[in-house]
Amino acid sequence: MSQAGKPLYLVANWKSHKTLAEAEHFVTEGSTPTENVTQIICPPVPYLASISQLIKSQQLSVSLGVQDVSPYPFGAYTGAVAVDMVKEWVTYAIIGHSERRRYFHESDQEVANKVSRALEAGITPILCVDEPYLESQIGTLDEGLRGTCLFAYEPVSAIGSGHPDTPEHAEAVAQRVQAQVRAEVVVLYGGSVTAENIKSFTDQPHIAGALVGGASLDPQSWHALIKAVAE
Ligand code: PGA
Repeated sequence: MSQAGKPLYLVANWKSHKTLAEAEHFVTEGSTPTENVTQIICPPVPYLASISQLIKSQQLSVSLGVQDVSPYPFGAYTGAVAVDMVKEWVTYAIIGHSERRRYFHESDQEVANKVSRALEAGITPILCVDEPYLESQIGTLDEGLRGTCLFAYEPVSAIGSGHPDTPEHAEAVAQRVQAQVRAEVVVLYGGSVTAENIKSFTDQPHIAGALVGGASLDPQSWHALIKAVAE
């Protein structure tokens, strides 16, 4: 079922890709302004200041996000990027991506602490969750804070594999997230989203957009994604 003009979020997760020159080139290609789509680009941390500057100077309708934050405040935490270091540039933070959970061994509690830090700094978390741990991943979050997050259902088997989940199953998971958090909470789908398949997900009544990895890297392919869902 499609709902014309429903507000959507499209999140570009660039992961550890791109040189600074490539990141800047992407932004200078411009944006496709749309009524109903909030575009959020999440570059690597060292590029945030420069990309933020470019977005401002070109007056692009694009928001910035960070791909991760430290669970700690300013302090003696070597290598950590505290939320207060990036809050001047970003509105959103991807938190708990399965690659963070897998390669950096992040626990649900650590993820929950990151969510708290982000919200304290006025940054909206985009919290990644997956089956079969959905309930405990959400359950670890402070009950009062859950409702202010955006959620991204990201099945591990679909990430970077070219094998997306079915829109019907993603829709069922989105409904489970909303049943546990609150009915209006924003739920995105992520995992092998392309310009060809994105609409089959955003046409689902409880899916409000997509978190995109591979297909967000090339400006043409990013613009094709936006065009596919723009009203
Ligand atoms: P993918 O990645 O679009 O390349 O599958 C999605 C993600 O990891 O967020």
